[in-house]
Amino acid sequence: MLQVQGVSDYFYDKYLLGRYFMDSLFELIRHRRSTRKFVQSAVEPEKIDTLTKTALMAPTSKNSKSWQFVVVDDAGLLLELSQCRSQGSAFLANAPFAIVVLADPAQSEAWLEDAAIVSAFIQLQAEALGLGSCWVQVARRPHDETQLAEQYTRCVLSIPETLSVVNIIAIGYKDEERRPYDLERLAYEKIHYNKF
Ligand SMILES: Cc1cc2nc3c(=O)[nH]c(=O)nc-3n(C[C@H](O)[C@H](O)[C@H](O)COP(=O)(O)O)c2cc1C
Repeated sequence: MLQVQGVSDYFYDKYLLGRYFMDSLFELIRHRRSTRKFVQSAVEPEKIDTLTKTALMAPTSKNSKSWQFVVVDDAGLLLELSQCRSQGSAFLANAPFAIVVLADPAQSEAWLEDAAIVSAFIQLQAEALGLGSCWVQVARRPHDETQLAEQYTRCVLSIPETLSVVNIIAIGYKDEERRPYDLERLAYEKIHYNKF
């Protein structure tokens, strides 16, 4: 962490630390890429604890905190979760752990937005902790011809019917190198100023 001798706490907090975080947050966002290959070593409990605390500080509509989370590190359950969809979820089997993001539509009409924001917070915090992560979409996706991925996941983890299963975020130490975003190649045409 940046430390400058002889600088008042106020200046340090309001300016230097702010600058440090602004620059590093941008770089963190630039470097975060979805990770689907994980090293087979456990993640320290302190890091998992930091991730759960992060989740509980995410903003929600009307401060409803409409989410719930299931932290899964049981290898058997992760294997079962990896089969929640026929494609796009297999890598969960090799993740050291995952956070299942649930939402309660009865608590907020903005439950999906709340769940998406907290998921992004979790993924960015994972990156800040030196971990990789990937979102596995569960909501509205099929498990097979007869069942939704959501119903399958609810059954595997004994989740109440009243809660929606939005996604499963696989997390662990990265076993793949991915290029950070190239600022020269961002989709700048998507940005409009004043009028579309
Ligand atoms: C709403 C949402 C759903 C996603 N679902 C899946 C998924 O089911 N399986 C998967 O492997 N990746 C999934 N991803 C990851 C995206 O494929 C990935 O974020 C996108 O390709 C951009 O790549 P990047 O994350 O490396 O920047 C999802 C991401 C989001 C935001």
